[in-house]
Amino acid sequence: MKTSQVTLACAIFSTLLLLTVEATWAHEGNTLVPEGHDHYTPSPIPDRVILMLTPTPQSSQTVNWRTNDRVTRSVAQITKALPTPGLHLNAATVDGQFQAVNSENGTAHYHSVTFENLQPDTLYAYRVIGDNTWSEWFQFKTASIDAKPFTFFYFGDAQNSVRSHFSRVIREAFMRNERPAFMLHAGDMVNLREGNHDDEWGEWFDAGSFLNAMIPSVIVAGNHEFVDQLFRLKRTLSPQFEPQFTTPNHGPEGLTQTVYHTTYQDTLVVVLDSMSALYDDDAAIKQAEWLDEVLSQSDHEWVIVSHHHPIHSVSVGRDNPVLREYWQPVYERHGVDLVLQGHDHTYGRGQSAPASETNRTIENGPMYVVSVAGPKMYMVADEDNPNMDRMAEELQLYQTIEVSPDRIHFQAWTAAGELYDAFEIQKDDEGNNTVVDLIPLDRPIHRCTNPNPSESDRCWNGKELISLPE
Ligand SMILES: [Fe+2]
Repeated sequence: MKTSQVTLACAIFSTLLLLTVEATWAHEGNTLVPEGHDHYTPSPIPDRVILMLTPTPQSSQTVNWRTNDRVTRSVAQITKALPTPGLHLNAATVDGQFQAVNSENGTAHYHSVTFENLQPDTLYAYRVIGDNTWSEWFQFKTASIDAKPFTFFYFGDAQNSVRSHFSRVIREAFMRNERPAFMLHAGDMVNLREGNHDDEWGEWFDAGSFLNAMIPSVIVAGNHEFVDQLFRLKRTLSPQFEPQFTTPNHGPEGLTQTVYHTTYQDTLVVVLDSMSALYDDDAAIKQAEWLDEVLSQSDHEWVIVSHHHPIHSVSVGRDNPVLREYWQPVYERHGVDLVLQGHDHTYGRGQSAPASETNRTIENGPMYVVSVAGPKMYMVADEDNPNMDRMAEELQLYQTIEVSPDRIHFQAWTAAGELYDAFEIQKDDEGNNTVVDLIPLDRPIHRCTNPNPSESDRCWNGKELISLPE
């Protein structure tokens, strides 16, 4: 066979394989969009509006949004929030930039604008432009320059049946709490991996709805934010990821979109890219060196790190020794307080040391948490987790984390409004931490209740929940 024939045969094979994969995904159904229906086609009206936390949230704020490709100027207007309707009268107009992204829903323009020179602890109103129209006026509050107490939300993987099952979690978190400072998503917001699957992103933005436009987000890339290429020999970020989530762009070379830090008042929040680290040791080492440098220059009261894959895995058959080898020593050397993770589709909270005492001084580094917000649920590996203070199977959870100058108060709430786990990290004047367990005594460890799990290590796949009756 000639080279050209081989090339042609490979191309045909690849195309057939891709078509099969696409058909499989469409058949499996991971969204509420019926097959053949274009629900998430970009339109003249701005959608997918999301605030991204900047490194200086007391004085700046970034907003991303999507329109159809007729909108070729990225414009937003901003003013201090007023009780009166004439918001436009003294609003400043700010220009940004856009990127075009093609998907099965058509070509969209993803816009990015950053508001600068804002006043701290101040409520602002803004709107973004569409094709001969605007979004509604959204409001957000800048951070304070003082170390005032604040609360943020932390969500594990949403990933599957996102509009059907994750939406209630993020909305319940909002209903039960006053305006949070920001929302941290610890990766695998969608399922992706092959193809584009813009409907999944559409569902993720619908789940958060206007909350995304009024509460800044911190976004962590998980394995499912990457798309497999060349038969899984290579991975690239989802084409929507960078255009729809503007991050500070100051991470190590080659990882600038997924590795960054931001400061909220006296708390340093660092986002790492564990997918790239597990894919390539060099990416793990590069991040460890970058983190070491960032933490060497930090004098923040609190340091919170987030990445997708756990340092200490909770679920059956999972382990990430590379992260323990390269990252954990950096956490311990610099006194990282809290590490927020996902990926395992279970709940697990503990340190590296045995959980033997109710009140204990942290001598072995940060408190590690794994959580899950969506419906895909795995089984806990009990025997591998002697150091976990608290674990759970099959609970959709959100976390509220209240940060004060001398303590972090952490709570994990179920989608049904029950407190499942709580603890406090108290910091003394010397900077030493003490953990106080506040686990609700009337709530035993939750186990899988699905009478017919499809696999022995998994309680729910997360995609069987929205199929129509036969
Ligand atoms: Fe994951």
